[in-house]
Amino acid sequence: METIGIIGAGAIGSAFAKALAQKGIKAVIANSREPESLADLVSELGPTIKAGTREEAAAQDIVLVAVTWSKLPAALAGLPDFGGRIVIDANNPIEAPEFKPFDLYGKTSSEVFAEFVPGARVVKALNHLPAALVSSDTGVEGARRVLFLAGDDAAANASVSRLIGQAGFVGIDLGSIKAGGPLFQIPGGQLAIQNLLKLG
Ligand SMILES: NC(=O)c1ccc[n+]([C@@H]2O[C@H](COP(=O)([O-])OP(=O)(O)OC[C@H]3O[C@@H](n4cnc5c(N)ncnc54)[C@H](OP(=O)(O)O)[C@@H]3O)[C@@H](O)[C@H]2O)c1
Repeated sequence: METIGIIGAGAIGSAFAKALAQKGIKAVIANSREPESLADLVSELGPTIKAGTREEAAAQDIVLVAVTWSKLPAALAGLPDFGGRIVIDANNPIEAPEFKPFDLYGKTSSEVFAEFVPGARVVKALNHLPAALVSSDTGVEGARRVLFLAGDDAAANASVSRLIGQAGFVGIDLGSIKAGGPLFQIPGGQLAIQNLLKLG
């Protein structure tokens, strides 16, 4: 199984870490500070989730990035080229307190994000639902929550879809970043914030 790194240990990073922990899946999680600052979080999540540095998280096979939009450049600065590894973009170009969308100069947010992670196969995922919904079961027997994803590399999309499945959800691949990404981008995507369950 691929190793998982998580950069950003806030609402969304820790929510997905919790989902992984519930399935016994290992991950290394990092924030902007020393790993010790995450001691309470990892102790709550259990033994499969380790606190690490940003560099350690970024060195894993699949790296989830969940950082406030304006802080992405600093969070990803100076990391080595990703060398074809998968980076999941869970970020949305809008943030508190103003909630005014950032100007993306005609690009999708994941195209802008890709510029911060050279050499990565970027897959957009985990961005379109409130954090509480990506850490929990649906509560409906036989139903799994739908998480959309999009990326330009079919094999990377399949890997992320598999990880999402292992974490207890169902991934639905909407195609390329350009075509599929805008459908669940926040703000504006028609599928954003849709809390959908798949039976069977
Ligand atoms: N909250 C949601 O429900 C939700 C849902 C879907 C998508 N998203 C998206 O996910 C992203 C994160 O949102 P969030 O709500 O999880 O934010 P958050 O709770 O504010 O957490 C942000 C995390 O980023 C870390 N960070 C900031 N600068 C960093 C750096 N230089 N290096 C490493 N880590 C750094 C912070 O670490 P420190 O604590 O050390 O500063 C913190 O752990 C945003 O783009 C948001 O749009 C959020």
